[in-house]
Amino acid sequence: MLKWIITAVCFGSIFVDSFWVVKPGPKYPPTKGEVWPKPQYETKENTFYTFNPSHFKVKILDQTCDILTNAIERYSYIVKSKIGGRNRNIKIRSHRKHNELHRGMLSELDITLSAPCEEYPYLDMDESYNLTVSATSKLYSSSIWGVLRGLETFAQLFYLSDDRNEIRINTTQISDFPRYKHRGLLLDTSRHYITISNILKTLDAMTMNKMNVFHWHIVDDQSFPYQSEIFPELSEKGAYDSSMVYTKEDIERIVQYARERGIRVIPEFDVPGHTVSWGNSHPSLLTECYEGEEVIGMGPMDPTKNTTYKLLRDLFQEVQTWFPDKYFHVGGDEVQLDCWKSNPELRQYMKRNNLTAADLHTLFMRNVIPLLAENSKPIVWQEVFDEGVTLSKDTLIQVWKYNWISEMISILYSGQKLLFSSTWYLDSITSQWTDFYVFDPRKMVYDVMQNQTLLEGIVGGEACMWGEMVDDRNVLNRVWPRASAVAERLWSAPTYHIISKSSIPIEAYHRIEEHTCRMIRRGIDAQPPSGPGFCVV
Ligand SMILES: *[C@@H]1O[C@H](CO)[C@@H](O)[C@H](O)[C@H]1NC(C)=O
Ligand SMILES: *[C@@H]1O[C@H](CO)[C@@H](O)[C@H](O)[C@H]1NC(C)=O
Ligand SMILES: *[C@@H]1O[C@H](CO)[C@@H](O)[C@H](O)[C@H]1NC(C)=O
Ligand SMILES: *[C@@H]1O[C@H](CO)[C@@H](O)[C@H](O)[C@H]1NC(C)=O
Ligand SMILES: *[C@@H]1O[C@H](CO)[C@@H](O)[C@H](O)[C@H]1NC(C)=O
Repeated sequence: MLKWIITAVCFGSIFVDSFWVVKPGPKYPPTKGEVWPKPQYETKENTFYTFNPSHFKVKILDQTCDILTNAIERYSYIVKSKIGGRNRNIKIRSHRKHNELHRGMLSELDITLSAPCEEYPYLDMDESYNLTVSATSKLYSSSIWGVLRGLETFAQLFYLSDDRNEIRINTTQISDFPRYKHRGLLLDTSRHYITISNILKTLDAMTMNKMNVFHWHIVDDQSFPYQSEIFPELSEKGAYDSSMVYTKEDIERIVQYARERGIRVIPEFDVPGHTVSWGNSHPSLLTECYEGEEVIGMGPMDPTKNTTYKLLRDLFQEVQTWFPDKYFHVGGDEVQLDCWKSNPELRQYMKRNNLTAADLHTLFMRNVIPLLAENSKPIVWQEVFDEGVTLSKDTLIQVWKYNWISEMISILYSGQKLLFSSTWYLDSITSQWTDFYVFDPRKMVYDVMQNQTLLEGIVGGEACMWGEMVDDRNVLNRVWPRASAVAERLWSAPTYHIISKSSIPIEAYHRIEEHTCRMIRRGIDAQPPSGPGFCVV
């Protein structure tokens, strides 16, 4: 009974077990060598191997390429120096006595990549892999992207013994693959400029969480940090400061860094709303908003001018040569129709052509989507679907608003594909990782429709970090480890039994503690996930 009361109180607040019983020590002691996100199939034994860097080698048995050799170098460093923290006291005992649990030393990892490397990651890439841990461990995949995911898993299996004397890894078999293809993180670099070094760290953290799409919401109303070569004035006048820009070289560096980690970089140039900063250099792109006879500011792009589309075509062409991914996000959200309605010229245009302001948005999107390169595929915010713009079947519609279940159902029934984000807004600071963890887009639709085929149109989702309240100093800990909850939901097997926060297995609380400490040791200043505790770093 007592235990039951404590558990019940615990649901009310994740910080307080009970206001009258407190135990010393961490609330959820971290696990040892458990993987986040959880692999699809995993069998672990209670026998283990010890790790001695000077008696360990990695062998490539089949295909190889620069992505693989660089990854082996990265992970060798991580396993040698990032397990269990710096103040460990590893004793290299090559003649340690074996017992029934200790199976000897881990001597080798054999990597079999059975098909040639692909150059860039893409939506339908294969990320599956098999991993067996024994004295000679084996990692198999038919795709370089699967090998990368397997190396991350391998690195996460190591842990420090309780006496902090040795690094261990248990006998393990894993067969793993992602549940959703698109597992993204949106980062807004317009409301606050985020430095290259923090973007690279974000990519490192995404790798640790097997997330595979960096959705770069690069420009918005407040600033235009993208430094175009054909329209340099856009950032000269639109960036916060001349130091706060992303050059072509910066973008190339980010795209390459991401590629080596199996992460796609998808730029978003949100139009026609959220574009006021473009007007600092190109005021004629925008609509003057009126109050009576008086101009009170600038609103969305003017959908009636050919020059608007000409600039967008030339700019998008440049952006698409800098970002190799086939997908391109053209936004389309939150257009201030009232501004269009207030402008005398647009009012005349609407009258002449018998259009409403919403029709103007439709017209705009209809004109903009064909400006993308021929092999390019659009991603749009849900408004574009809601307003009835005809979209190609490979367009991805990003669901972000309230009433997400009925929105998803109407998108899916129309035969379109979608990405889910509504409940995964990281700027909601009162949301804990557990608040994000309980939502699974396929489960939500299935619960209502009971139609498995329909679910195939849900290709994934994104955690969104809007930038109003984050800058370089807090972005990493605002995102991590809360985005890890989304990462696990999108990678791991469905957990239909999780219907509310109280049904999240306690195992996950312990495992995310270990994962958070692991991210901290690997250079990401993640915040504590669930209350009192500590990391040895
Ligand atoms: C790993 O091995 C250790 C040592 O034998 C054992 O105590 C632990 O339970 C094992 N972990 C798992 C998840 O089986
Ligand atoms: C992993 O193992 C499973 C079960 O043996 C097999 O079906 C699958 O094809 C393997 N996958 C890879 C990438 O080797
Ligand atoms: C805009 O383009 C349309 C279609 O190409 C053309 O008919 C129209 O004359 C152009 N308007 C201006 C102002 O150039
Ligand atoms: C204007 O559009 C509305 C709605 O699309 C339509 O019902 C109406 O007949 C149109 N009027 C003219 C004059 O074309
Ligand atoms: C399930 O959804 C698919 C795809 O929209 C549809 O073709 C099929 O008729 C649906 N099945 C049922 C039983 O409603």
